[in-house]
Amino acid sequence: MHNLYNDTDTSNIILKLKDTGNLTDEEWKVVLANWENELDPSFLYACGDSVCSRYYGDSVYIRGLIEFTNFCKNDCLYCGIRRDNRHLSRYRLTKEQIIDCAKTGYELGFRTFVLQGGEDMHYTRKDIADIVYTLKSNHPDCAVTLSIGERSREDYKVWHDAGADRYLLRHETADKTHYARLHPESMSFDNRMRCLYELKSIGYQTGCGFMVGSPYQTIDHLVREMRFLKEFQPDMVGIGPFIPHHETPFKNERQGTLELTLKLISLIRLLLPKALIPATTALGTIHPQGREMGLKAGANVVMPNLSPRQVREDYSLYDNKICTGEEAAECIGCLTRRVEAAGKHIIIDRGDRLI
Ligand code: SAM
Ligand code: FES
Repeated sequence: MHNLYNDTDTSNIILKLKDTGNLTDEEWKVVLANWENELDPSFLYACGDSVCSRYYGDSVYIRGLIEFTNFCKNDCLYCGIRRDNRHLSRYRLTKEQIIDCAKTGYELGFRTFVLQGGEDMHYTRKDIADIVYTLKSNHPDCAVTLSIGERSREDYKVWHDAGADRYLLRHETADKTHYARLHPESMSFDNRMRCLYELKSIGYQTGCGFMVGSPYQTIDHLVREMRFLKEFQPDMVGIGPFIPHHETPFKNERQGTLELTLKLISLIRLLLPKALIPATTALGTIHPQGREMGLKAGANVVMPNLSPRQVREDYSLYDNKICTGEEAAECIGCLTRRVEAAGKHIIIDRGDRLI
């Protein structure tokens, strides 16, 4: 492989990470600081891609995302569906609508359904268990993923017993002080971490993650992210750029960059070679080919939207979110072409992480 870096130290550190799966804090700082420089990152991306292919070949897994409620009791400072946003039309899908979305998805080739929403207590422990149970009964060959925030251990346990396979809960930042700057006082870093460790101990395949370029994020925070990921060993790591939403306290903050997001995808691939790493919608929002670039830098999952078209605009986490006007079939067609443009192909499979 041709090394385009003009900084030998940096490329040696990248090779060390590729070979050993770990770095010292000082080394992390060197590679992470390089996003501010003019160095050509293509060597790093190529390393991320080659490690991904070593385990997953050119396969890309798809997850059908069903954004079933935009009600949320939380008030995260970055999030467009936060409780205090009064300029949003709120919706909830019924159990039947959710089951219907999954049926359409199954016919389109999806074998994983991700139920995502705000923290909406309208859906009780039993409601979610019923939905999960019905989805798994209708589609026994599919995985069901939940992404509905912080709940009690008992809730998580009951949903796992009902058949839920996976849970996505981005930790948002591995630094407690940084967490407090992104969230209101009513929310706690310790509780979010408790949830992640409980999910794992119950037996969920667990995904965590963070926003790239969130307000106040520093290189030291990113080093901490790498440390946390290595220790927690998640099955999936979801990262995407922070993008401001005009109805939030962070409306005037700077957006996360394409370059840093791609570099972090590659670095996380080298850190956790078998992890599932999505090329996120947020990445596709900040650049028309963002998701293709993510796939070429080490990502191996895409998550097209299966929500009914009439509610998509209202699941507005950030401004200018893409794919709000398309039907599910159009989305999968578009993404199939994008994945192929990245030299990969979508496979119809639950897409569990390799062990
Ligand atoms: N309520 C669930 C939770 O808290 O995990 C799931 C829904 S939440 C809206 C999904 C993710 O969207 C968050 O974990 C956050 O990282 C991301 N997100 C929210 N606002 C964003 C923004 N302005 N830019 C980029 N990503 C954002
Ligand atoms: Fe939805 Fe492209 S992925 S339109």
